[in-house]
Amino acid sequence: MSDDFKRLAAERAAEDVKPGMKLGIGTGSTAEHFVRALGARVRAGLDVVGVPTSERTRELAEAEGIKLATLEELPELDLTIDGADEIDPALTLVKGGGGALLREKIVAAASKSMIVIADESKLVDTLGAFPLPIEVNPFGLGATIKAVEACFARNGLQGKLVLRGGSDHPFVTDGGHYILDAHLGRIADASRLANDLVAIPGVVEHGLFLGLAAKAYVAGKQGVTTVEP
Ligand code: A5P
Repeated sequence: MSDDFKRLAAERAAEDVKPGMKLGIGTGSTAEHFVRALGARVRAGLDVVGVPTSERTRELAEAEGIKLATLEELPELDLTIDGADEIDPALTLVKGGGGALLREKIVAAASKSMIVIADESKLVDTLGAFPLPIEVNPFGLGATIKAVEACFARNGLQGKLVLRGGSDHPFVTDGGHYILDAHLGRIADASRLANDLVAIPGVVEHGLFLGLAAKAYVAGKQGVTTVEP
């Protein structure tokens, strides 16, 4: 069911793509539905070019026959379409469940607009039930973990930090970094936490997306709803 909703939201977003657009293409199961819907439009004659946010998305988009470029070739994009792990009423997002948060944020920030696509289970009143992904440089991991924990304490947050994949086989991002998943439960002030996290030298990026999404297509039993901040 939830996968059908993801597909519905993705297909709605594919309708917003106009000829000639330069697109950021997200990562994850919902974004994959978008890539397939876009591929169908491309095969029907739509001329667009996309910048993928992960190697996984690149492979699927290539297989779908979508023309691709890099942010070096196209430093400014018209629209990014991507999924999310959590969406609050202000359209602040938690992303990175699939491990692509760094490229996702770079691509979204290079876009004039971002549309989020999701099934209704992603809508929350307050962020934080989904573990917050924090991408870190492998160098100095112990010191970075300590600094992140101190940052949580300053922000009145408590929670476990888990190295994704475990210490024997840590998950490695497309950028060669590790991910710490922060089980916080509730993030009352996402903006303050975001600013504090990026000030830690070993933190490369975090999964809080603030002020990037212009709208979300959220699908559920009632069909697709447009959510705006
Ligand atoms: C990938 O790193 C994530 O940001 C995804 O966009 C997010 O995890 C949503 O994934 P699904 O579409 O698979 O639920």
